[in-house]
Amino acid sequence: MRREPAAGHYISVRVPAKLNLFLAVRGVRRDGYHELVSVMQTISLYDELTVGLVGPPGRGHHPAARRRMRVRLWHDGGPEVPTGGENLAVKAARALGSVANVMDFAVVDEPVSTLASPETQTPTGPCTIIDLRKGIPVAAGMAGGSADAAAALVALNELWGCSLYRDQLRAVAAELGSDVPFCVFGGTALATGRGTELVQVLCRGTFHWVVCQSSEPLDTAAVYRCWDRTCRPVQAEPDAVLHALRNADPEALAAALHNDLEPAAFALRPELQEHSKRLQEAGALGVVLAGSGPTLLALALDERAAMALAKEVKPLFHRVDVARSPVGGPERRRG
Ligand code: C5P
Repeated sequence: MRREPAAGHYISVRVPAKLNLFLAVRGVRRDGYHELVSVMQTISLYDELTVGLVGPPGRGHHPAARRRMRVRLWHDGGPEVPTGGENLAVKAARALGSVANVMDFAVVDEPVSTLASPETQTPTGPCTIIDLRKGIPVAAGMAGGSADAAAALVALNELWGCSLYRDQLRAVAAELGSDVPFCVFGGTALATGRGTELVQVLCRGTFHWVVCQSSEPLDTAAVYRCWDRTCRPVQAEPDAVLHALRNADPEALAAALHNDLEPAAFALRPELQEHSKRLQEAGALGVVLAGSGPTLLALALDERAAMALAKEVKPLFHRVDVARSPVGGPERRRG
């Protein structure tokens, strides 16, 4: 049974970034994607996505009847973040709307200025507004876009009264991108296939990171293409990472960090290899490329060590954050 959402009702979801503690590329699949074995974990850098229904009173917002629904997006993420129908959060809205048989969509491309004054933005028909506050580095290998898609699925599932279970949302998520299913759940998971087949794994304790961001983004597809040209699969296994997580052992985890995409990303951006070396010389326990990069993740012994390391390496990078892992998945904000 669908609940009827009220006009003027807003739902905010805070969603974390992800890191890959282990990423092995096993080869190219028939569908063109790469077969992966990866250990993913959520880390405490967040986007916040708010969705709301606005529209003239009396026109109704009940989603059960198929109707023309407009979706408008506002974000504060700068020119790197896609707008309108190209944004993964809007694609998630479209996918959920279609699966849950909620409504037809007209995506309105022009950005609304903010949710703070929805009345002044109200279009003529019912309208779902998506407001995105970016805290996750953009195009940085930390699944920022995927996290936004996951947050949109969770928030709109509630706003529109779709009542899909998270497992059902995961199926929708897999259509949107390889990292989106993980972002729907969060925590720590062993991922296989394209990255969409997930098993939760045990992680004790908290790990402390220095997240080092470059000013220039790196295109994920370009990194995989470079891997195709220059690399061969190796049979690395995630056992040492899983063992370190079970034992809450940052030194063992540092020694086991692994990312098969590093040689490809380093070939495209040679300064990353130099920066990785500098991080190790500055006292990082271990350094690994975040996903397809270009962010570098330096593991520290504890929070104090992470703060000291961050201070020392700040001049090398565009932005440096201290963060911890794991954290929970998308979380509804109260208030
Ligand atoms: O799934 P997603 O759209 O996030 O992937 C972005 C790009 O990364 C894909 O177009 C593909 O080039 C590459 N990719 C891949 N194999 C994966 C995941 C991503 O080749 N398992």
